[in-house]
Amino acid sequence: TLGLNTEFLGRNLHYHDSVESTQKNAYKLAYDNAEEGTVVIAEEQTAGRGRMDRKWHSPKYTGIWMSLILRPKIPIPKAPQLTLITAVGVVQAIEEVTGLLPEIKWPNDILINGKKITGILTELQAESDRINSIIIGIGINVNTGIEDFPEDIRTIASSLAIESEKIIDREKLIRTILEKLEKLYLLYLEKGFFPIKLMWESYAISIGKQITARTLTGEIKGKATGITEDGVLLIEDLAGEIHNIYSADIQIEG
Ligand code: BTN
Repeated sequence: TLGLNTEFLGRNLHYHDSVESTQKNAYKLAYDNAEEGTVVIAEEQTAGRGRMDRKWHSPKYTGIWMSLILRPKIPIPKAPQLTLITAVGVVQAIEEVTGLLPEIKWPNDILINGKKITGILTELQAESDRINSIIIGIGINVNTGIEDFPEDIRTIASSLAIESEKIIDREKLIRTILEKLEKLYLLYLEKGFFPIKLMWESYAISIGKQITARTLTGEIKGKATGITEDGVLLIEDLAGEIHNIYSADIQIEG
């Protein structure tokens, strides 16, 4: 067992050797009314999913592949806040367990030395304008060796072991993530998003920089000026017009 020090997060834990996707399992469990805080974790995913219909490479024993079910009573437009809360929790846990200094690239990538270590995928189940559950998938390359990555991502991805030159205790990291996340989530329910927005901004690399955002409908270039209360990215283009970005891939220029 993990020896978890949480009230509810991870108390109902579904551990698997191999699954297609923990996200898929968690989605089903949420649909079947699994309790808030349910966690699905697997040693390997054979069909791990990333954002924008991409694959998430999840080889056996090398990473943390897990999905959590939360049921906050918040309006649907505020759901992206949960992605940012999760990113802060994961960054804090990585700092504590490895001593590395991760950075966040909006909305959900966690980078170390400019390379992607972690991705977060947030999905919603809603019923007539009410959130029923939020399923948060977290993928962390922990003890992945460079040869474990497919060739096309070797220059952009990395792992905690590669960056720290140490093997990392995955159980300890899982435990720390769940504990940090629960604390942040309870703080959020009590005090709202503002305190977490400040923490998020302290880790963010994109804010204040010239960026290109690729959305499903096109490209927007400009300066990332901040995020809104709802976790939406703001870009000011050359004409001084402000754009609200809900979902995109961003590239930092220069
Ligand atoms: C991204 O595109 O950056 C998000 C990647 C999310 C990967 C995690 S691993 C656990 C969970 N199960 C999945 O199939 N995907 C998420």
